Amino acid sequence: MIKIDYTDVMADRIGERDGILREELLSFRYFTVETHSLIQREKDNSFYFAKLPYQDITDILETAKQIRENFDYFIVIGIGGSSLGNIMLHEALNDFNYNENHFPKFYVLDNVDPEKFGAVIDRIDIKRSCFNVITKSGSTVETIANFLIILDILKEELGEKYKEHLIITTDPEKGFLRKFANENNIKSFSIPENVGGRFSVLSSVGLLSAAVCGIDIEQILEGARKMDLICSVEEHIEHNPAYLIAILHYLANIRRGKSISVMMPYSERLSSFVDWYKQLWAESLGKEGFGQTPIKAIGAIDQHSQIQLFREGPRDKIVTFIQVEKFKRDFKIPTDIPEDLNYLAGHSLSEILNKELLGTKVALTKSKVPNLTIVLDEINPYNIGMLIYLYEMATAFSGYLYKINPFDQPAVEEGKNFTYALMGRKGYEQKLEEFKSIYKEKYKLEIS
Ligand code: PA5
Repeated sequence: MIKIDYTDVMADRIGERDGILREELLSFRYFTVETHSLIQREKDNSFYFAKLPYQDITDILETAKQIRENFDYFIVIGIGGSSLGNIMLHEALNDFNYNENHFPKFYVLDNVDPEKFGAVIDRIDIKRSCFNVITKSGSTVETIANFLIILDILKEELGEKYKEHLIITTDPEKGFLRKFANENNIKSFSIPENVGGRFSVLSSVGLLSAAVCGIDIEQILEGARKMDLICSVEEHIEHNPAYLIAILHYLANIRRGKSISVMMPYSERLSSFVDWYKQLWAESLGKEGFGQTPIKAIGAIDQHSQIQLFREGPRDKIVTFIQVEKFKRDFKIPTDIPEDLNYLAGHSLSEILNKELLGTKVALTKSKVPNLTIVLDEINPYNIGMLIYLYEMATAFSGYLYKINPFDQPAVEEGKNFTYALMGRKGYEQKLEEFKSIYKEKYKLEIS
């Protein structure tokens, strides 16, 4: 179960300078009705992510079963939308100590940080390891670089049997990895053509590693289907949670100058959910001078770090708290404690955490910082499925509000192209010239 409380975003609570008037919200009703029907039609095209909850997952489940039976280590090689969702599902839905207590142990090779790469390699036994290489384009430099090193190690250790230790998840037709998988008869999954990286967590991209780690992926999809049903049926802004979140953030941004969207869960298991959200919100909407900068804060840790700024710094933020009502475990403070600490006696950690959320929420409201709270009765696959779909739809719908394409990332491509040029990739000679004309080290300070 998910509840969305947006009371403290509204002008009747925090004033018109920072808060949204209900009339403003409702003035989007015709826009919403029109966009709603466009979205339903787009579900076979750019909004194909909305169809993922209905996919057949037999192959994913069967493959996950085989991996669990045959391997002790499962390593995802991918970056951005090809790894953030995997990390998010794993951290939200498995125990903190999963790798200490379970097999297959789960690792992600995303960055090309050699020390991190080495640390993962040191922890695994290559003969007992299965690698899932995930890349939609099939050409992302970090993923390909990590893959090529692993491939070399696999071949050296296992000879032709290396093929049994690889699973490729990539475009159905295009790219180097699709060719590689087909030519070498390596088990592969296809990422639907119309689904981009950051909208792909509910495809084999995110679901295989989740299933390998024992997560109930059918329940994740069930939750996503429920959210899809609500978002498909409800055209009314106040009843459609995705449109509501999108319009509130849009109005806060465009009309109240809230250029920063803070997401602050009071549960460390949702820390990676915020990383996933940051990519979704930033890469989808940061275009043509528009977009909100997403910021991560974790309750209660960031009360002792960023809340000072949120309350008294620039009035440029809208905050989303995520509250979890029931935790899997809890611990009580003893009653036999010094008298001046008596206010804590007999209370549980979860109680303190949630009271801290309320305290911080009211403190922000008092400072007229617009804030909403998403309440989960507990963190489970069903609720996480709902939450994922909710934010995917809110982000995609926001594309219509800002009149930008939420599904591309032209500004990311440019940096990739310069990197290819610097690495001497064929066909990028002109890019290298362009790089040289822009790159300068003019003002420098060197300290040794
Ligand atoms: O959302 C996106 O499309 C990007 O963030 C990609 O996921 C990221 O760049 C990795 O791309 P690929 O999956 O092609 O390796």
